[in-house]
Amino acid sequence: MVATWPEPIVSVQALSQTGLSTVPNRYVKPVHQRPVYNSDQSDLDMEVPVLDMRDVWKKPEGLKRVRNACEEWGFFQVVNHGVDYALMESVRGAWREFFDLPVEMKRKYANSPDTYEGYGSRIGVVKDAKLDWSDYFFLNYLPSSIRNPSKWPSQPPKIRKLIEEYGEEVRKLCERLVETLSESLGLEPNHLMKAFGGEDKVGANLRANFYPKCPQPHLTLGLSSHSDPGGITIVLPDEKVAGLQVRRGDCWVTVKSVPNALIVNIGDQVQILSNGIYKSVEHQVVVNSGMDRVSLALFYNPRSDIPIGPVKELLTEDRPALYKPIRFDEYRLLIRQKGPSGKNQVDSLLAST
Ligand code: OGA
Ligand code: NI
Repeated sequence: MVATWPEPIVSVQALSQTGLSTVPNRYVKPVHQRPVYNSDQSDLDMEVPVLDMRDVWKKPEGLKRVRNACEEWGFFQVVNHGVDYALMESVRGAWREFFDLPVEMKRKYANSPDTYEGYGSRIGVVKDAKLDWSDYFFLNYLPSSIRNPSKWPSQPPKIRKLIEEYGEEVRKLCERLVETLSESLGLEPNHLMKAFGGEDKVGANLRANFYPKCPQPHLTLGLSSHSDPGGITIVLPDEKVAGLQVRRGDCWVTVKSVPNALIVNIGDQVQILSNGIYKSVEHQVVVNSGMDRVSLALFYNPRSDIPIGPVKELLTEDRPALYKPIRFDEYRLLIRQKGPSGKNQVDSLLAST
């Protein structure tokens, strides 16, 4: 694996703070990738479903709604999820303080493409690629054997403790969600977690995203269209600034976040395990000229060293296995080299190709 980036890294936040009036060419996306703002979102069918954990946990009616959301959208917002609201606000605030540190301090955590751990501004090592208008901090959370808080930010002082507390609560939510997904697929409650390799062996990473304000938001993207490679993702959105868009047919639907909700989305590994019943849907982030945006994405992934393929109980004569099994560490490597590119990766595993 390549150990360095193909070009020097530029902090987009530092660039934005120079007050430039045009977007440098390396962030200008080709016309067909530029943001589309679908103006008519009055139709309720055009809103990402909102589910209440109290209504779906072990409730047949609720499980149907989960199934519908995962088949149709690959995304839902969840409320009454058990993660403390004040903790959500504090951890997001702490990350905002981290990104507000001088760039020289953040550079001490500069990451490299072999592990991605640390502070960075690009995904993928393709030379001359068009870059996204964002910076991030990526860290390993699970399994605890690869957790190394000394690589996490040390400023602001409370941040490490907050990451651990938030990570713990989101881990518990993910365990309930995996069980809920399993039941909603008609499987035994623990079936999907077993297929993930067991709760002691799963992986989790946290990515804190910083999307600086941008002088020409219609020319670029904060995060290019992609599907998440892992199992499920829990996004803590910015409480004030929208930006996440989900693909719905030919439209991009902007998520209007409900107060205190978390956003849940299906990743490629659950699409594979469910044999395509659940969809890992493309999404992207648009930026704006007025406000910076901070979000936290926690990626909850299957154990990385076992083959992940369609669950046998979900296969039928009419619907044989769509995907070839692959280990998550192999799968992730391909994405880390290429960077975000729609759904090309999971599609390339289709058994017929
Ligand atoms: C991601 C992602 C969405 C957001 O980090 O993979 O899709 O709102 N983030 O930042
Ligand atoms: Ni994503």
